[in-house]
Amino acid sequence: MIPAADLHTAAERFGTPLYVYDAAELNAALARVRAAFGDARVYYAMKANPNLSLLRRLAAAGVGAECVSPGEIARAEKVGLSGERLIVNGPAKSAHEYAAGARLGATFIVDRAEEVELLPPASRALVRVNPALEVSTHDHLATGAAGSKFGVTLAQVPAVLEALRVAGHTALGLHVHIGSAIRDAHDFTAAFGRLAGLRAQTGPLAVLDAGGGWGLGADLPGIAREARATAAAFGAELWVEPGRYLVAQAGTLLTRVVGTKRTGRNFVLVDAGMTELLRPMLYGAAHPVTPLWDGPATERWDLAGPACESGDLLARDVTLPTPVPGQLLAVGEAGAYGAAMSSNYLTRSRPAEALYEDGQWRLVRRRETPEDVWRAEEEARQ
Ligand code: LLP
Repeated sequence: MIPAADLHTAAERFGTPLYVYDAAELNAALARVRAAFGDARVYYAMKANPNLSLLRRLAAAGVGAECVSPGEIARAEKVGLSGERLIVNGPAKSAHEYAAGARLGATFIVDRAEEVELLPPASRALVRVNPALEVSTHDHLATGAAGSKFGVTLAQVPAVLEALRVAGHTALGLHVHIGSAIRDAHDFTAAFGRLAGLRAQTGPLAVLDAGGGWGLGADLPGIAREARATAAAFGAELWVEPGRYLVAQAGTLLTRVVGTKRTGRNFVLVDAGMTELLRPMLYGAAHPVTPLWDGPATERWDLAGPACESGDLLARDVTLPTPVPGQLLAVGEAGAYGAAMSSNYLTRSRPAEALYEDGQWRLVRRRETPEDVWRAEEEARQ
C-alpha cells in the first residue's frame, strides 16, 4: 500500500490523471504465483500492461512474455526476451509476426488447423485447445466457449499435433486459456479435465500451457494444483501466462475532482474517464474507489469523466465525503488493462505513469502531449 501522503506527492509532481504502480505489490504478486505454481515457467501476458519499466522488472525476475501483436513482440525484443522466454500467440497472426517470432526463436501458439502451413520452417508450437466451456466471467472475457473464435476443438487436437510433426515442426504440446477475470476455480478444473481426456490420443507431451485468466480473488493454490496435476498426467512441463494477476493490484489510477453536479443523480466530475480506464464502460467492471480526503461519508456519488458519452462513468454509487474540486480519488486494481487500454479519443493525451519503490517515485511514462497524438498525421503531410 502506497501511503496517502505519497499519493498526494505523486499527483502534485506528475499531474493527474496518473497511473501509479507499487513495486512492492508487483513483487508480492509474482511471489504468490511462484509459491502456488512452483517451478512452472511464467510468461507474462503483456497485454495487461506493456510498460517497458514493468517488463524489464519482470524479465529481470526471470519471467518470459506472451505476445499477440507485432508491437508486443518488439517490446519483448527491446527488453531482451527471446527464445525459450517468448511466446507468440493470436488468432489472426500476420506474416510479420511469424517472421519476427521465428527470428527471435519464439514458441508459437497454433490457433487453427490452417495455421500449420503458415508457420516458419521447424517452428516450436503448442496447439491451443478450445474446451467448449461456459465460464464465470463477463461474456466479452470468455474465450473457451464452444462459439468462441479461439483454439481448435477437442476433436481436432490429435490431427493438428500430427500435422505439425509431418510438416517438420516440433509439436511441444497443448495450450488452454478459457478467459479472463475468472472467479470460480472450478472452471479451470473443468477445462484441464477436458484436456486430460485427450491423453490417450496424444500420448505424452513436453509442455502443457495452462494460460492465465485468474480472477483477483480466485483460489490460486487450487488452480495451480489442478494445472500441475494435468501437466503431470501428460508427463509435461507446466507453463502459465498470467496478465491481470501479476499487475492489477499494483496499479492505481489517481484522478482529481473537477466539480459536482446534482441532477437526477449525484455526480462527482473527475479528470479521468473512459479514455484512461475503459473497463467500467466496456465490461461493467467495478474498481474500488478510495477518497483521499477526510470527512463523514454520507452520500452516494457516480464518478463521471470528461468525455461526451453517457457511458463515461468510472464508478457508480460510491459513498464519499462531500467532494470539493481539487481533491484526489484513488481508483484501485487498475494496473491491468488500465493504461494498456487507454486511448487518444477526443485527442486526449494518455496519462503519465509512475512507479513507487522504497518511498521514491520514478516516472515510467511521461504524459503525452497533443503534438504526440497528431504527430503521425503531420509527418504524413511532409
Ligand atoms: N493468455 C492468453 C492467450 C490471453 O488471451 C490472455 C488474455 C492472457 C493469457 C492473460 O489473461 P489474464 O491473466 O490477464 O486474465 N481487456 C480485458 C482482458 C482481456 C484479456 C485477453 N486475454 C479486461 O480489461 O478485463
